[in-house]
Amino acid sequence: MNSQRAAGLIRCKRDGGELDASALRAVAQGIGDGSWSEGQVAAFAMAVAWRGMSTLECRQFTLALRDSGQCLRWDDLPGPTLDKHSTGGVGDGVSLLLAPLLAACGGYVPMISGRGLGHTGGTLDKLESVAGYDVHPGMARLRQVVEGVGCAIVGQGDELVPADRRLYAVRDVTATVDVAELMVASILSKKLAGGAQALVLDIKIGNGAQLPGVAAARDLAERMLATARGTSLDVRVVFSDMDQLLGREAGNALELRAVLDLLRDRGDNPRLRALTLELAAELLCMGGLSRDRAGAGRRVRAALSSGAAAERFARMVSALGGPADLLERPDAHLESALVQRVVPASASGHVAAVDVRALGQVVVDLGGGRTHPGQAIDHAVGLAEVVGRGDLVDAGQPLAIIHARTAPAADKAEASVRQAFRIAPEAQPCAPLWQWHAPMEQMA
Ligand code: URA
Repeated sequence: MNSQRAAGLIRCKRDGGELDASALRAVAQGIGDGSWSEGQVAAFAMAVAWRGMSTLECRQFTLALRDSGQCLRWDDLPGPTLDKHSTGGVGDGVSLLLAPLLAACGGYVPMISGRGLGHTGGTLDKLESVAGYDVHPGMARLRQVVEGVGCAIVGQGDELVPADRRLYAVRDVTATVDVAELMVASILSKKLAGGAQALVLDIKIGNGAQLPGVAAARDLAERMLATARGTSLDVRVVFSDMDQLLGREAGNALELRAVLDLLRDRGDNPRLRALTLELAAELLCMGGLSRDRAGAGRRVRAALSSGAAAERFARMVSALGGPADLLERPDAHLESALVQRVVPASASGHVAAVDVRALGQVVVDLGGGRTHPGQAIDHAVGLAEVVGRGDLVDAGQPLAIIHARTAPAADKAEASVRQAFRIAPEAQPCAPLWQWHAPMEQMA
């Protein structure tokens, strides 16, 4: 595209104008094919930050981003395509458990996942704890695995939504990651390109969430629903609690182990299990695989307890290059950290507050997350057996177990972990683990 046309489109947005579908297609094309300079991409993102986008513009930009690359179509599958997106949490292994669970119930899950962002973990990083697992298998293999196994959790790759890849990289360094319209278009364009029919959006609320508060979470929910209306994607929004870890582990291999335990119907992870089963049941209903929530709930619980979900997970891992016996022999395939340090409670009482963001940052500082893009991470480190709000602890009992590479790294983490918990004599009320969003038009 010639530079004058690009400048005209940026000027229109800068001055508060509304761009039509063909203008927004030109923007997405220019970003995706590299004909817009980085400066032009940045100026466009900042113009949207200042002037916003109408719902129609946001939808048309979403569709234009989707069409900047290949789109997966799953017309020949005998079941619905289902997916989930989360705004990012700590100890949140839902995707790892949900995808095989849905596959075991007749759904198909081509799940395009991301890496850790800031203090929150990423599904791809967790899967890369498994030697050989290929998060970029290419479109043909992705299709083969989804068709054969029912689920594949992979990264975005170069083929899907290239304009979003470039725009996101520019947003990351121009203070425009948190622009709601760009966030909505980015997330939905990838889900549409992946071919999902039904999507649950899990928006985290609490001190460990990426969004700053309840108002921002509700705003994102409404924008997401309004933008998705009129597309092929059916969306429901759930708000879930991030005032404590979702599971009891934070860190890549540790979280994966916790999921393997749940898949084998073991382990003590009631919150992670309960939220995953809830989202799975909702998605079965959205996809027409169950007529009512009670039946859907029974079906997903049976898929977990029977080992059917475990079997799907094992097949997905081996089809994507990982070992065939991960579930039987996790210790043979998942690295463990050399140093394990218990952090004891200094007083007896109820856990009244957990600084989730600080605990997520401890994992990053141990080497389990990134401070700059492309950084190699240590999959073995993190926190295990982390207590949650409302738990009763005796003085000296563990608040968490630090898994670190070295003793000095564990020393540094210990001080932060200790400070992340407040113990009180009385139990404090906790937020509900989840709450389904009632869209505004339903509330009227
Ligand atoms: N995840 C995305 O894919 N895009 C955003 O803009 C934010 C989170």
